[in-house]
Amino acid sequence: MDADWLGETRTSYDTVAESYAAQTRDALGGAPFLQAALKLFADTVPPGGPVADVGCGPGHITAHLHSFGLNAFGLDLSPAMAGLARREHPEAEFAVGSMTALGLADESVAGLLAFWSLIHIPDDAVPGVLAEFHRVLRPDAPVLVGFHLGDGSRLKKEGYGGHPMNVYVHRRPAERMAAWLDGAGFTVTAHMLVGLDTRYPGGLLFARRNPPQERSY
Ligand SMILES: C[S@@+](CC[C@H](N)C(=O)[O-])C[C@H]1O[C@@H](n2cnc3c(N)ncnc32)[C@H](O)[C@@H]1O
Repeated sequence: MDADWLGETRTSYDTVAESYAAQTRDALGGAPFLQAALKLFADTVPPGGPVADVGCGPGHITAHLHSFGLNAFGLDLSPAMAGLARREHPEAEFAVGSMTALGLADESVAGLLAFWSLIHIPDDAVPGVLAEFHRVLRPDAPVLVGFHLGDGSRLKKEGYGGHPMNVYVHRRPAERMAAWLDGAGFTVTAHMLVGLDTRYPGGLLFARRNPPQERSY
């Protein structure tokens, strides 16, 4: 694993931002199960509160959540991705930042989604990222994570039309992701498996941030 995996991920997505956006702009239209999952998630967010799309890329999912009336904003490690998202979806706000240290106040977020962004977080850093999710979420707030199903990691050296990248892509079994969420103070409420007939099957886990532990005297 490269020591500077965050820096390599940022540079990789800066490089492919335009071509990634071109390839994913209309992807949701052909993904009815993802659309259904996003609607389910949106229906569980309490009214009014901000919803974070962490690792939002070009912002098409953030915009989709916004179209449900959610106060959704996006956050991405790549300045090029965040800039592109602002340009393509001026109705929502987008910031540059890393999920490893979210620049958000404690218990300030009413819902959080991370779609195929945890795939770039190495195993030993995932519990810390989920602790960040827990910190910024209000008690009982819903979470939806989407990720590549499977097991193992590979170094992606190019992508989205042959552009150079240097980024690890981690696949995980749903049970491992569920155990991480459980350990970080979330209750997993549902699993959904998508694309099982494709090269890139996906896992979607719906969870809720547990309320603070009641003290016993
Ligand atoms: C495969 S893309 C997914 C983009 C979008 N969520 C989607 O579903 O199309 C992965 C995104 O995660 C972002 N990312 C990777 N590591 C991140 C981190 N530590 N913090 C925030 N964003 C990150 C990348 O910059 C990239 O935009």
